[in-house]
Order: sequence, then structure tokens, then C-alpha cells
Amino acid sequence: MKYLSFIMMILASIIKILADECNGWRITSPIVEGLVWTAGQYYDISWEPSNSQVETVDIVDLYTDNNELAATQWKGPISVKTLTTGNFQLRVSSTGTYYLNVTATTSSGGKCSLNSVSFTVITGLPEPSSSDTSTFPAPTSSLAPTSSPTLGDP
Ligand SMILES: *[C@@H]1O[C@H](CO)[C@@H](O)[C@H](O)[C@H]1NC(C)=O
Repeated sequence: MKYLSFIMMILASIIKILADECNGWRITSPIVEGLVWTAGQYYDISWEPSNSQVETVDIVDLYTDNNELAATQWKGPISVKTLTTGNFQLRVSSTGTYYLNVTATTSSGGKCSLNSVSFTVITGLPEPSSSDTSTFPAPTSSLAPTSSPTLGDP
């Protein structure tokens, strides 16, 4: 009889492990703190399933540091064995601190989600170069200044 509670404890642990189908699934990139990402550029998020029951990775949402949804960045589902979303274009309209929330589904239909580390997003290139080949429409008639500088009276 004195072993009964011990056996119950073991059983409870086993059931808990089986129930936590998400356990083990983890993000492998980005994991470094202090990253600076640029809106419009391409990034990916990667993971490893470990011994979790995660089967597909479904959606990657970008959240502000106030935990507000900014925009969905990528949509699956893809097999968890793919290990990465592959590159997606970062769509965000204002500079700030954000994190990614990744949602997945297990083989029994359970939902799992993970948050990435926080990173900074900037919406413009830090130093536009003089050879900027942006897609903004070029001015159509800007070969000469439209008015000559006026000479000041002596
Ligand atoms: C990710 O987003 C889902 C759905 O909005 C939410 O339920 C979940 O708590 C978030 N995950 C984390 C780890 O915050």
C-alpha cells in the first residue's frame, strides 16, 4: 500500500508528459538578443521539433512589445520537418520593438505557440547611399532648377 502514492505520482508524470505535446518544440532562429531588422527585407524563422508532437507550423505573426498584433508575416502550414519558414518579406509600417509568435498544430490537433526574442525593426535603411536605386518614380523634368537664385542687393 505504501507504494501506491509513488506509483500514482509516476503515472501522473507520464500523463503530464504525454499531454504536453508542445514540449520540446523550440525556436532556433532568431535567438540572439538585440537584432535590428529592416522592414521590406527578407528574414526567416527556424525551429526544431525535438521530441514534441508538433506536426505542422501554421502561421507567424508579428507582435509589438505591447503585445498587439502588428501583421501576419508568413502563413503555412508546412511540415515541422522543414525546420524553417524560408525567407519572407518583413511587413511592418513603423519602427519599434517587436517579436514573432509562431503557431503550430500537433498530430492530435492540439495547438502550440512560441514567441521569439524581441528585436528592433527599422522602416528605412540607416544610410541611403548616393547610388540609391529606389523604386520611387523619378522626377520627370528636373534637369534644371525651376527658378534661378536671386542675387541680393549690395
Ligand atoms: C501566440 O499567439 C496566440 C494566438 O494569438 C496566443 O494564444 C499565444 O498565447 C501566443 N503565444 C505566446 C507564447 O505568447
